[in-house]
Amino acid sequence: VERTLSIIKPDATNRNLTGKINAKFEDAGLRIVAQKRIQLTKAQAGEFYAVHKERPFYDELCEFMASAPVVVQVLEGEGAIAKNRDVMGATNPADAAAGTIRAEFAESVGENSVHGSDAPETAAVEIAYFFSGLELVG
Ligand code: GTP
Ligand code: MG
Repeated sequence: VERTLSIIKPDATNRNLTGKINAKFEDAGLRIVAQKRIQLTKAQAGEFYAVHKERPFYDELCEFMASAPVVVQVLEGEGAIAKNRDVMGATNPADAAAGTIRAEFAESVGENSVHGSDAPETAAVEIAYFFSGLELVG
């Protein structure tokens, strides 16, 4: 079975939406096999989002991700990476399909409530960034 790294971002933890977002994942058949609430430093957020270093919104993104606690989690299921991205919806909530997390909860293209890995290689790196093997209980 496939696993993916999910982050419930500061805009969503601030508004107490962790449970509603987790219900969307579970209703879609994704199992939450690891989860913890942490406070990222700006440097840690920058390391996690290093692929976006050259993008104009990089500094704003790192500030935002360090502005309040996040919930990092590992989701497991058949085709978990694609399934999670379907449930998340498009990056910009204005483009997100009805019923998706971003359509219902995201505030803007930057403060868009959730992160999800985009490929098996990035999922493996991102899961290892936050979790040890002992913390993953399928
Ligand atoms: P993630 O799952 O968070 O990686 O989202 P994504 O794959 O849908 O989007 P992408 O990887 O292109 O961008 C990563 C994150 O950067 C987005 O989720 C947004 O939080 C932020 N971001 C992307 N585009 C913009 C933008 O134009 N402005 C701002 N402020 N933030 C952006
Ligand atoms: Mg991405």
